Amino acid sequence: VATARRLRAGAGRLVQRAGERAVGWGRRLASPVPLRGFHRYAVGGMWEEMGRHQLDFLVGQGLRPGDRLLDVGCGSLRGGLHLIGYLDPGGYYGIDTSPLLLAAGRRELVAAGLEARRPTLLEDSDFAFGRFGTTFDVLLAQSLFSHLPINSIQRCLIEAVRVLRPDGCFYATFFEGPDARIDQAPVRRHRPDATFATYPDRDPFHYPRDVWDWLCTGLGLEPRYIGAWGGPSIQMMMEFRRTG
Ligand SMILES: C[S@@+](CC[C@H](N)C(=O)[O-])C[C@H]1O[C@@H](n2cnc3c(N)ncnc32)[C@H](O)[C@@H]1O
Repeated sequence: VATARRLRAGAGRLVQRAGERAVGWGRRLASPVPLRGFHRYAVGGMWEEMGRHQLDFLVGQGLRPGDRLLDVGCGSLRGGLHLIGYLDPGGYYGIDTSPLLLAAGRRELVAAGLEARRPTLLEDSDFAFGRFGTTFDVLLAQSLFSHLPINSIQRCLIEAVRVLRPDGCFYATFFEGPDARIDQAPVRRHRPDATFATYPDRDPFHYPRDVWDWLCTGLGLEPRYIGAWGGPSIQMMMEFRRTG
């Protein structure tokens, strides 16, 4: 009996580690990853709370139902479902590099009965926002920059200026960490559901707060540090406004 129990515990640990490896980031998760609904974990878990909080935050910043919003790195629509439910039909646009997560998002959309709100979803890895053929009041990148090297963030910001309306705003989260020129050590992060590390030079990335001044210079974007933005996120929030 004792051997069977040890074998079961060993198998349980293997399944737990396999789930954590598939979810990525070197995360240690508080509970096992279920096979069904994997797309909810692959975008970071805390499906309901993090999804709802994205809408609450943006409404707090002045988002209105009539606005046109682009969700950059929308994944499986964790925030998207709430935003699609709030915005007028046709007002939500999402872009993501992962066809699997977009497909899962489409399934979530149907399950939530929100198809009639006609979101536009696009698979793309190059931040080619011009492909939508329109401009936006609000851009959101929730937990995207935390997975991108700095050159990709630069490209994203360059493309964002091109589609942001003159009074529009781009909100983006990032892990704040030390300046890599001084300190290259990983930073341990703790959430109720997971622990993991962030790095200056690999995914998940952290960046120092003043990197945004450098990235925005000459782009026509004014960065503003919002910092902690409530809810369950342990990333910090930035606001980027067009200067001209
Ligand atoms: C942590 S998930 C967050 C998803 C979503 N924003 C949310 O809050 O649920 C990061 C997302 O960024 C997407 N992503 C990574 N690189 C990208 C790129 N170059 N262009 C578009 N999406 C990208 C990933 O596929 C993933 O869906």
